Amino acid sequence: MDITTLKQTAQAMMVPPKGLLAADESTKTITKRFDALGIECTAESILAYRQMLFTTPGVEEFLSGIILFDETIRQSIDGKSVCQYLESKGIIPGIKVDKGVHDLANFPNEKVAEGLDGLRDRLTEYKGMGAKFAKFRATIQIGEGIPTDTCIEANSEVLARYAALCQEQDIVPVVEPEVLLDGDHTIEQCFEAQVRTLKMVFERIKAHKVALEGMVLKPSMVLSGKDCPTQADSKKVAQMSVDALKQSVPPEVGGIAFLSGGQSDESAVANLLEINKIGGPWPLTFSYSRGLQNAPMKIWAGKAENIKAAQEEFYKRCKAASLARSGKLS
Ligand code: 13P
Repeated sequence: MDITTLKQTAQAMMVPPKGLLAADESTKTITKRFDALGIECTAESILAYRQMLFTTPGVEEFLSGIILFDETIRQSIDGKSVCQYLESKGIIPGIKVDKGVHDLANFPNEKVAEGLDGLRDRLTEYKGMGAKFAKFRATIQIGEGIPTDTCIEANSEVLARYAALCQEQDIVPVVEPEVLLDGDHTIEQCFEAQVRTLKMVFERIKAHKVALEGMVLKPSMVLSGKDCPTQADSKKVAQMSVDALKQSVPPEVGGIAFLSGGQSDESAVANLLEINKIGGPWPLTFSYSRGLQNAPMKIWAGKAENIKAAQEEFYKRCKAASLARSGKLS
């Protein structure tokens, strides 16, 4: 483990005024998103779509890195491997390495992240292809009697072991314990689940001797459940999100990059802005998938003639997130 390299990569990922694009939807997930818009989903159409995003002129002003899916990292753009293409634009390539979330045996409605098997070898291969950071996502569901300690502990252990394996190869781990938006829970219940989760994640991270400066945390924001009748406003979301992080995340952590988690594009930007007005001991940026892609994907709609308009929208979404990350209004 070379801590200098890890620190440099983490700092470059968090450099103002930039953030990350998560373009690492699994084939199942992107198929679902394309289907919802009536877009034909083939290996070619997925590549055409991601190529539209990655080749957007000027987007490197706002994006420090892009998280890729296994299929994409093996493809090429303009005669270059996707990693080489991104590097040529000054964008750091990253890779999703989890294998999704699966039912946790004996714990109804709870999931555990998988993907540790063979991970050391997969990381070696991805590093050879040019990946400088990796992402691993676990999910925590709020509901009647859940999350259980067992679920939080199981996922925290997986995330910590993944992070240690990444750092062994000088790959910055992006550790993503997502507390899901689904449900009618209050923002206070979300806060409680977030603090319990993050405390356990960092307990396991410490036990596995992960270098904090050489990792990035990708948390959800503290939000009212999607079906909660009372929806907290941006100021409350920001205060509770920052408070939860301050209670559970060591200040040495290289940076925080929030996921959007199914919020509207506008809320994802407005909440990030308020979060940055408060600030913390870490840089606080974005690592959005839906929050940056919803609008351009709709405009693109699988048609070559819509590429320019979709790129203009994607540029606008990235710029808005970048301004919010800098504490400025768009
Ligand atoms: P969303 O921003 O759509 O939540 O996705 C972020 C992500 O990378 C999920 O793993």
